[in-house]
Amino acid sequence: MNTQYSIAIQKNLIPKSRIDEVNFQELGFGKYFADHMFIAKYKDGAWISNEIVPYGEISVSPAMSALHYGQTIFEGMKAYRNIHGKIQLFRPLDNWKRMNVSAERLAMPPVPEEIFMGGLLELLKIDQNWVPSRRGESLYIRPFYIASDNFVGMRPSSEYLFMIFNCPVAAYYANPVKVKFEKNFIRATPGGVGYVKMGGNYARSMLATELAKSDGYDNVIWLDSQEYKYVEECGTMNIFFVINDTIITPPTSGTILEGITRASVIELAKDLGFNVEIRKLSKEEILESYQQGKLQECFGTGTAASISPIVKIGYDQDTNIQLIDPSEWKFVPKLQNELNAIRISEIPDRFHWIFPIT
Ligand code: COI
Repeated sequence: MNTQYSIAIQKNLIPKSRIDEVNFQELGFGKYFADHMFIAKYKDGAWISNEIVPYGEISVSPAMSALHYGQTIFEGMKAYRNIHGKIQLFRPLDNWKRMNVSAERLAMPPVPEEIFMGGLLELLKIDQNWVPSRRGESLYIRPFYIASDNFVGMRPSSEYLFMIFNCPVAAYYANPVKVKFEKNFIRATPGGVGYVKMGGNYARSMLATELAKSDGYDNVIWLDSQEYKYVEECGTMNIFFVINDTIITPPTSGTILEGITRASVIELAKDLGFNVEIRKLSKEEILESYQQGKLQECFGTGTAASISPIVKIGYDQDTNIQLIDPSEWKFVPKLQNELNAIRISEIPDRFHWIFPIT
C-alpha cells in the first residue's frame, strides 16, 4: 500500500537485485532495466488486478489487438535523485493526464490516477537504488498501455494491460543534434493522431529518420501536411528557435505532441524574462533569419532529450544552416541549467513541478 494512493498490489519480488550488472559509468539510454515492473489488468469494464513482478518477458496471444490494430500508447517521464539524496518525480500527473488524452483518442478506457501513480510509487520504492545520482542522469520511466484482447476484428479491445518499467539513463543525445527538413514524408495531419503518444506515430517516423541518418543527420524536422512549409516537431522532441532574441516554437494544434518539457521550457523562459512566441514558423523564415544573421540558437525538448541543442539544419540538397558552438549560446545554457537545478532541488521549485517521493 502507498499512503497517497491506496491500491492493493500483489508482489513477487526477485531474491537478488541485478543492479551489479549495470555499468553506471556508461549508462547510455534505454539499455538497462530495473529489477521490477508493474502490471495492471483491465477486463470487461473493470480494473481487475495490480502486480509488481520481476522485469521480464510477458506472454501474449498472437491475436492480441495491440499487435494488429495498434491500440498502444505510452509515456516517458523521469525520476531524479536530488542533491539531498532523495528521489523525486518531474510533473508525473501531467504524464498521467496526457496518457488519458491519448487513451481517449484510441477508444481505450482511462487509466485511473490511483493505478498510474500507486503502481509507479510502489515500483520506485522497491527499485529506488536504480535511480542514478550523477548530474545529467535519471531513471527514465516508461508507462505503457496496450490492448490485449485475444480477438480478430475491428473494434476496441475489451481487455488491456497498463504496465510500467524503468531504465537508469544518461543523455539521449550525447552530442549536439543535426536535423534536416523532411520534404517527402509527413508525420501527422489535422484531425489525425499527431498529438497522441502512440506507437504508430513513432513507427511512421522511422523510415524518414533512417534515411536522414544515412545522410549524416540525427533526425528530421517534420513539416505540416498541407504545404510542407511550417515546422512541426522532430519526432523525438518538440523544437524551438531563437531568432532576434525571441524564443519561438510552433503551436501544437493537434498535429504535434504536447510535450511536458516543451510546456516547462515555455513557462521557464517567460519567467526568466525571455521573449517567447508560440506561432507558426516556416522553413523559409528560418533560412532567411539565418542568412540575415538573426538565427541565434535552435533546440529540441523532450523527456528523453531534455533540452538538446540543434547545431545543423539541412535545408535542401545544397543549403545547410550551421550554428555556432552551443557553449557560446545565451538562451539554451541558461534554460538547461535552470531546469536541471529545479529537477534536483538545487534551486527552489517555483513552478510546483516536483513530486517528492516520501
Ligand atoms: C520521450 O522523450 O520520453 C520519448 O518517448 C521519446 C522517445 C524517442 C524516447
